[in-house]
Amino acid sequence: MRTVLITGCSSGIGHHVAHGLAARGWRVFATARRPEDVERLASEGLESLRLDLDDTESVRAAFAEFMARSGGRLDALFNNGGFGQVGAVEDLTRQALREQFETNLFGWVELTNLAIPVMRRQGHGRIVMNGSVLGYAAFPYRGAYNAVKFAVEGIVDTLRQELAGTGIRVSLVEPGPITSRFRANCRPHFERHVDWQNSVHRAQYVAQLARLDKPGPAAPFTLGPEAVLAKVVHALESRRPRPRYPVTVPALVFWWLRRVLPVRAMDWLLMRASGGGKR
Ligand SMILES: NC(=O)c1ccc[n+]([C@@H]2O[C@H](COP(=O)([O-])OP(=O)(O)OC[C@H]3O[C@@H](n4cnc5c(N)ncnc54)[C@H](OP(=O)(O)O)[C@@H]3O)[C@@H](O)[C@H]2O)c1
Repeated sequence: MRTVLITGCSSGIGHHVAHGLAARGWRVFATARRPEDVERLASEGLESLRLDLDDTESVRAAFAEFMARSGGRLDALFNNGGFGQVGAVEDLTRQALREQFETNLFGWVELTNLAIPVMRRQGHGRIVMNGSVLGYAAFPYRGAYNAVKFAVEGIVDTLRQELAGTGIRVSLVEPGPITSRFRANCRPHFERHVDWQNSVHRAQYVAQLARLDKPGPAAPFTLGPEAVLAKVVHALESRRPRPRYPVTVPALVFWWLRRVLPVRAMDWLLMRASGGGKR
């Protein structure tokens, strides 16, 4: 049975992909950072482990436990767990940026670097990173998140070259808006790090808070997490996994526009698409 290790399975994309791969016959090790979520995942029939991406000890302990339970077999890793730090760049503290990168990049690379030697020994392995349309199209008021998703693109492009010929294939899924707890989970990070009431961007933040609180889809062309699952399945199971999988219409449209439009035209379009920073 092929084994896959997934981070951030308490909700959203990670939760859906964990169940989707299990239904396709994968032996799924679903991880979450809170013990109650680990228990819940187990009660749903998944093999589950505690893994907090912000904590090196937790990453190492989870990987060691995974290796013991899987008999040392790791066919695939899906780096998924993360959050979004909202805020204009001029309002972002060093600590806010640090936390964004700790979770969404440093934890992923640390875990990936534990997986690579195992996959090298096996002579095969698939690594999938959950990037974003914001990894190539920088929406305003999301500077920390844009930066970390751009960084993920850089890591994936580098890994793909460094692992060529090893049998390890690296892919990036690049979703646009997907239904999940993502917006709700952005709020505490925003409130902790951005002094929004005293910011020159206060008007945009009032609108952004309404966006984060809005129940149901907040953006046009939002898809369910099954759209991401379909791409992850291709990246893990096809003979020729693609380097990149844009998911949703906006992700595809911006993927092409980024290549054809001059920088200033792209800025104008992104600012309009974001309602002047209010969406
Ligand atoms: N939803 C979208 O529109 C969208 C679009 C493009 C890309 N993405 C990417 O998709 C991935 C999953 O997000 P989602 O949309 O499914 O949102 P979500 O429902 O908020 O899920 C995020 C998951 O990451 C986990 N997580 C957060 N911090 C963590 C940490 N320190 N250690 C381990 N796990 C941690 C969360 O756990 P807790 O419950 O413990 O917080 C949760 O399980 C993210 O990388 C996100 O950037 C999402």
